[in-house]
Amino acid sequence: MKGVVLAGGTGSRLFPLTKITNKHLLPIYDRPMIYYPIQTLVDAGIQDIMIVTGGRNSGDFLRLLVNGKQFGLKHINYTYQEGEGGIADALALAEHFADGHKICVVLGDNIIERNIWEAAERFRKQPRGAHILLKEVQDAERFGVAEVTGGRITGIEEKPIRPKSNYAVTGIYMYDASVFDKIKTLVPSKRGELEITDVNNAYIREGTMAFSFLEGWWTDAGTFESLLRAANLVAQSRTREGIPAGAIGSAVEGVAQI
Ligand code: DAU
Repeated sequence: MKGVVLAGGTGSRLFPLTKITNKHLLPIYDRPMIYYPIQTLVDAGIQDIMIVTGGRNSGDFLRLLVNGKQFGLKHINYTYQEGEGGIADALALAEHFADGHKICVVLGDNIIERNIWEAAERFRKQPRGAHILLKEVQDAERFGVAEVTGGRITGIEEKPIRPKSNYAVTGIYMYDASVFDKIKTLVPSKRGELEITDVNNAYIREGTMAFSFLEGWWTDAGTFESLLRAANLVAQSRTREGIPAGAIGSAVEGVAQI
């Protein structure tokens, strides 16, 4: 399975922090935000990774990540999203890279405490379709929300005013190669974006959507509140594990600086 991190978009909800840099280069505790989704993929045993960037600062990703030595990778692939046509629009750019393989997609602002190893293993064995990760939350109206009946997801609503459940759809999605054909059938939503929720609903209609629940904490980091929450959650986890700030990968970082 290959991995894709989506780090395009304008980060308008974090303005002026994002006026002169890309949201995914902002710090979460002691690392740039983009490090976390990359680590999520690496921890799931995925070595072949593409970053979809965008905006005026895309060159900074290359300077920061180089070829992924910090993560034990030999190489990182990059591509560029023009404009911000939505999450599914950004994912469409990975079709050539995926080259018929299954993919695990992580949104660049999604940060998790543990790992997705088990879900990835399950999806590797799943003959076709998709697998998403849900998390029970108190503010479901901020997310895609899954309706679960009889152990199956029957539908997902994007940011509903009155959510039908507390099950948020996290920004970690596993798809077979048919995802790119599904994206080609999408039309822009009211907010002018190709929605990943429409992609997931296509798999649900097809009867090939599997899911599991994410263990440990999960947060996005796309608003001021969630950016702060993400930093605090990471700091608390590190303290619990006895890992000092800046400890991870600092030796390799020194070599990687340009
Ligand atoms: O965090 C999980 C949620 O992410 C899901 O529950 C929602 O169903 C999903 O739509 C998404 O909601 P957001 O409104 O929070 O997505 P946002 O526009 O903040 O974009 C999340 C990431 O996706 C962002 O950090 C980079 C990437 N992205 C987004 C857009 C709009 C792109 O790469 N290109 C884009 O054009």
